[in-house]
Amino acid sequence: MMDSPKIMELPKFLDSRGNLSFIEQDTHIPFKIRRTYWLYDVPGGECRGGHAYRENQEFIVALSGSFDVVLDDGQNKNVFTLNRSYYGLYVPKGLWREMENFSTNSLALVLSSTVYDANDYIRDYDEFLNMKKNGEI
Ligand code: TYD
Repeated sequence: MMDSPKIMELPKFLDSRGNLSFIEQDTHIPFKIRRTYWLYDVPGGECRGGHAYRENQEFIVALSGSFDVVLDDGQNKNVFTLNRSYYGLYVPKGLWREMENFSTNSLALVLSSTVYDANDYIRDYDEFLNMKKNGEI
């Protein structure tokens, strides 16, 4: 596991017939992929994902369109704009994350290190800050 967020450039084959990119588990993803989900048809102005995960790590790709991923470690916030399908953002566990500024028809692909578990979510920002302060996440 890596402990900082990181934009990673994926392979791309630019071609007049259409471009192609790919992800290989062992080459590009710093965790074992146990789940894939995607966000789509996000209405303008909506914001997703106001929470942190205790354990789950993610790799997020804007397969279409663009959006911002805001990551907050309890002290600093960083905004990562994803707007090309050959970039992925690695998101370690234990960060508060929001996704916003979705463009029309954007499509966010998320690769996850855990299966869905409601108990892995921290949905209260003050609780998140407290857990950070106490070194619990
Ligand atoms: P949630 O993670 O809260 O969405 P976001 O953080 O993007 O706002 O998920 C919304 C709902 O979808 C929630 O009720 C649980 C369900 N869900 C699953 O069942 N499996 C999954 O893998 C995910 C990501 C969500």
